[in-house]
Amino acid sequence: MMLVRGRWGVWSLRSHLSVLLMLSMLLTLLLAGSAVLVWRIPRIDSASRQALQQEVGEMAARMEVLLGNRQARLQLLAALLEGGPTLAPDALLDQGVGAGDVLSVAYRLSPQGRVVAVGLPPALRPRRTDLLGSDLSSSSLYRTLAGRTGVAWSGRYLSVLSGQLTAGLALRTGRGELLVAEVPFAMLLDTVETAAGTGASAIWVVDQAGEVIADTDGGRDIGKVNIRNSPLMQAMVQGQADGRSFAFPDGQLRVAFAHSPSLGWYFVGHAPTGMADPRIRGLVLAVGAAFLACLGIGLLMTPLWASYLGRPLRDIAARAASTLRGEPEPAVSPPGPVAEINRLAHHLVRMAAAMRERELEFLAIFNASPVPMAVTDADQGYRLLHVNDAWCQALQFRREDAIGRSGVGLRLFTAAERDALGRQSQGDRTVSKGTVRRASGERMQTQFFGQRFELGGERWLIWALIDIGPIQRVALQLRALNQQLEERVQRRTTALAQANADLSQTVEQLRSARSELVRAEKMAALGSLVAGVAHELNTPLGNGVMAISAMGDATRSFQAAMQAGVRREDLRQLVESIAQGTDIAGRNLRRAAELVHSFQQAAADQTGALRRSFELSEVVHEMVVSLQPSFARKPWRIEVDVPATGLRMDSYPGALGQALGNLIQNAALHGFDGRSHGTVRITAGALADRRIWLHVVDNGRGIAAEHLNRIFDPFMTTRMGRGGTGLGLHISYNAVVNLLGGTLTVDSVLGQGACFAMRLPAEAPRAAGAAAVGAP
Ligand SMILES: Nc1ncnc2c1ncn2[C@@H]1O[C@H](COP(=O)(O)OP(=O)(O)OP(=O)(O)O)[C@@H](O)[C@H]1O
Ligand SMILES: [Mg+2]
Repeated sequence: MMLVRGRWGVWSLRSHLSVLLMLSMLLTLLLAGSAVLVWRIPRIDSASRQALQQEVGEMAARMEVLLGNRQARLQLLAALLEGGPTLAPDALLDQGVGAGDVLSVAYRLSPQGRVVAVGLPPALRPRRTDLLGSDLSSSSLYRTLAGRTGVAWSGRYLSVLSGQLTAGLALRTGRGELLVAEVPFAMLLDTVETAAGTGASAIWVVDQAGEVIADTDGGRDIGKVNIRNSPLMQAMVQGQADGRSFAFPDGQLRVAFAHSPSLGWYFVGHAPTGMADPRIRGLVLAVGAAFLACLGIGLLMTPLWASYLGRPLRDIAARAASTLRGEPEPAVSPPGPVAEINRLAHHLVRMAAAMRERELEFLAIFNASPVPMAVTDADQGYRLLHVNDAWCQALQFRREDAIGRSGVGLRLFTAAERDALGRQSQGDRTVSKGTVRRASGERMQTQFFGQRFELGGERWLIWALIDIGPIQRVALQLRALNQQLEERVQRRTTALAQANADLSQTVEQLRSARSELVRAEKMAALGSLVAGVAHELNTPLGNGVMAISAMGDATRSFQAAMQAGVRREDLRQLVESIAQGTDIAGRNLRRAAELVHSFQQAAADQTGALRRSFELSEVVHEMVVSLQPSFARKPWRIEVDVPATGLRMDSYPGALGQALGNLIQNAALHGFDGRSHGTVRITAGALADRRIWLHVVDNGRGIAAEHLNRIFDPFMTTRMGRGGTGLGLHISYNAVVNLLGGTLTVDSVLGQGACFAMRLPAEAPRAAGAAAVGAP
């Protein structure tokens, strides 16, 4: 299985989640711990410094109080001695010393330094006689105190009486005597030690000589340390030592000090700083311990959490793996706490179901295929993995016998034959022909189709076979049939070529016959035209000739009569004949002239016609008005339904009126001939593309079918010899088509009237006038 490697390699979800959780937790603790330390340590430090200063200050003050007590006691003794002898001086001094717990001994010295009286505690009183009279003028105590006035304190010295380190104090009386008392150091320093705090700090009592005479840290440094020449001493003398760090036997320590002026002692408190300070160390240790505790808890808990969170994903992975292996799916696990993972699991279940369905679908199609098909493993000797029903049927193997074995193993083909099949491949596709053997050993000619593909890192080959034996047999038969067919076609082609040649000849004959026919028809048409013209002209010309010859006869009769003498009656007859003959000849010659005019019109070039813009209704109206007289005494009516405006044309109104007049006259002459009633209806309207329709419809006799397609021909008339020339429609057709640029059609059923329809452009073509006017 391919896994995408990240930058840090591939981790299990549990490790990944554990590390992430741990890292988040450690980071949080680190930040919180640092914040606590950064916030607390300066405060602790400052509090320690203040406490130390307070401690040494208090100690110095207490020492001053102690010394003050002793001074007061000495001053009281001096006052009592001065006041008169109530008691013997020794007894008075004994009382002043008492048990020796405030002053250890008190001397009264003469101005010369001899002991004149001595006060002792009860235990030492037997030594009084030894001391009385002794000269102390040479002792260090006397020397130190002798020159002073008021109460003076000596430095330390060894007591003559006890041999202990002692501080002395002296007071000069009015009589020049010196009252001296001793206070053992131990007594003073006991107070120091009992007053020492219990913190990490320790306090040294340093005398004027710089020697440590008391140490609250168990007296460890007493007599061993002298700081006279140290920077600490100098700083203290200058009053600048507070809060600074100095070198001590225990290392670098912070210092606070106080000075006792009576004895000249320094109380030097020193305490460790930073991590050496137990409170800071305690805080750091507490934070560290919390950190470690959380780390421990995290180490214990995060794998559990990670495992808990990752369980649904592990289930999903297991489900996916079993789906991939095609194994039955494990039961659906209950939903976990993470919505996205639940959705993923749900989709995976659906995906697996869809995959199963598709697999079943594929298998159904695979098995339903009529083509024998097999899937083999191309990496492992082409083992058969799937074969379909058609394959089993065609090759006569049972599926369970075939699956897991190769084609060579099943003796479908030899290894050499298989390789030969594969050699004809192009890329991943193979199409080749070859022979395979059925289980029975029977050989089968096949077309082999193979397709290689890769799936999940494995190479597969799916192949199909088509039994081409029957096809080949059919192909052979087809080839033979083709051969026969070709021969037959050859024969037919020859026959056809012959027939074609005959046909070409016939066509040629037909073509010449047709041109002969056309020529003959033209001649016939010409003949008919000439006959028509001759016939039409014959009557008026004949009548004219007859009239003129009648006049000739009359003239000749008159000439004959003239020889016999002209009578009035003869002259009247001649004039009558001439008048009648002239009238007849004139009328017939006019008729002939009219006919010739008609012929001229039929063949005339109408380019000279007047073109202008007009409303169609105007032309229709004018034509109807001009024809109205000829309808006046007839039972026929003309109806007009043409819009007065909106059908404006730029065309030839004369030609249009003539065509319209011909149609109306024809309706009256032919349609209503012999009828007691009849209506000609003229209607018009607009078409698309600026075109206009105009219909002339009558309800007369109609036109016989055999005439219908000839009525536009010249001289086509059913009133031959009765005033019809058969030119009216021909002239109208020519005008509409050639001059107006439109069409003229007729529609009629015998007995039901006729309908003549014009389709005209609103603007007549400019070139139309130049077109030759000919037969339709
Ligand atoms: N409205 C109509 N009803 C019946 N027949 C018609 C009608 N119009 C034309 N015809 C037929 O068509 C023929 C040809 O008409 P055409 O106008 O060309 O010639 P004509 O009227 O006979 O002679 P003319 O030259 O005097 O007009 C007519 O003779 C007639 O038979
Ligand atoms: Mg006519």
